Amino acid sequence: MNDLLVDVHDLTKSFGPVTAVNGIRLRVAAGEIYGLIGPDGAGKTTTFRLLVGALRLDGGGGLVGGHDLVKEINRVRMQIGYLPQRFSLYGDLTVDENLRFFAEVNGIAASEWQPRRAEMLAFVGLAEFAQRRADQLSGGMKQKLGLATALIHRPRLLLLDEPTAGVDPVTRQDFWQLIGRAVAQEGVTVVVSTPYMDEASRCTRIGFMRDGRILDEGTPQAITSPLHGRILELSGSPRRQLHALAAQDPDVEAVQPFGEKLHLRVRPGTAAAVQQRLPAALSSAAVTVQYLRPIAPTVEDAFIAMLESEG
Ligand SMILES: Nc1ncnc2c1ncn2[C@@H]1O[C@H](COP(=O)(O)OP(=O)(O)O)[C@@H](O)[C@H]1O
Ligand SMILES: [Mg+2]
Repeated sequence: MNDLLVDVHDLTKSFGPVTAVNGIRLRVAAGEIYGLIGPDGAGKTTTFRLLVGALRLDGGGGLVGGHDLVKEINRVRMQIGYLPQRFSLYGDLTVDENLRFFAEVNGIAASEWQPRRAEMLAFVGLAEFAQRRADQLSGGMKQKLGLATALIHRPRLLLLDEPTAGVDPVTRQDFWQLIGRAVAQEGVTVVVSTPYMDEASRCTRIGFMRDGRILDEGTPQAITSPLHGRILELSGSPRRQLHALAAQDPDVEAVQPFGEKLHLRVRPGTAAAVQQRLPAALSSAAVTVQYLRPIAPTVEDAFIAMLESEG
């Protein structure tokens, strides 16, 4: 991979006894959407803070936006658009005034400001709300304005820390479309964190993060491929009993609730046998089986399997 926007190694940061980031290596090539996926406390936010120089490294280093993370942090910052997990707009300023503020903070020349402002308002679809106060925007609109403020100075690297947390599914979809368009139209490279596994498939590559480490990394396809042919979806009721009974099958390694359904992970090569045997065994108990069928593994299936193998 050449043209790496992020090329850092051994990044480490502790807070007292807690090692929030424990020696991670991260390489992100131009044009990628790299997803940092992991539960609360995994170290995602600390990683972002290290990449923007908001926290001092305890160890490690490397290049961000082509500049040295330790020696050239001001140059690094100029390459980055950062949308923090709890970013704040100025509620008493309008959409327009917020954009202007972030443009000025980032040193955009006045002559460049007007065309860029119009471009960004159109990009995030807020042109007709330019004069609305930020505290009167919906959650989704605030998020889009946040994205516009992060992009206003044409960064090469966009860092988004849980940008879709707590917003409704439709708004999440919208936001991911915008991320894709930012890569296509603005030419940025993206590192985005999310607690939502279903968003992982939107990324070119993902890293599973836990306890300050990146445990596994790859394209969504590569991450899920070891589980091909090993996930069965079970629908029926009552779910709790189904769960307990399915877990007793000798070839079933794990049972996980997925919405209204259950996912069974079976030993390699046993899917057909389980599919034949299990419904009969279940319906002799007092449960109803709607169907048991093979499905493509999801990133969440892969994450769960990986956590179990890590112990
Ligand atoms: N400023 C801080 N002071 C003390 N502990 C912190 C601080 N920031 C993060 N931590 C701890 O570091 C770990 C990683 O936190 P964080 O990077 O926020 O994870 P994530 O963003 O994945 O939820 C957690 O155990 C958290 O409590
Ligand atoms: Mg966080």
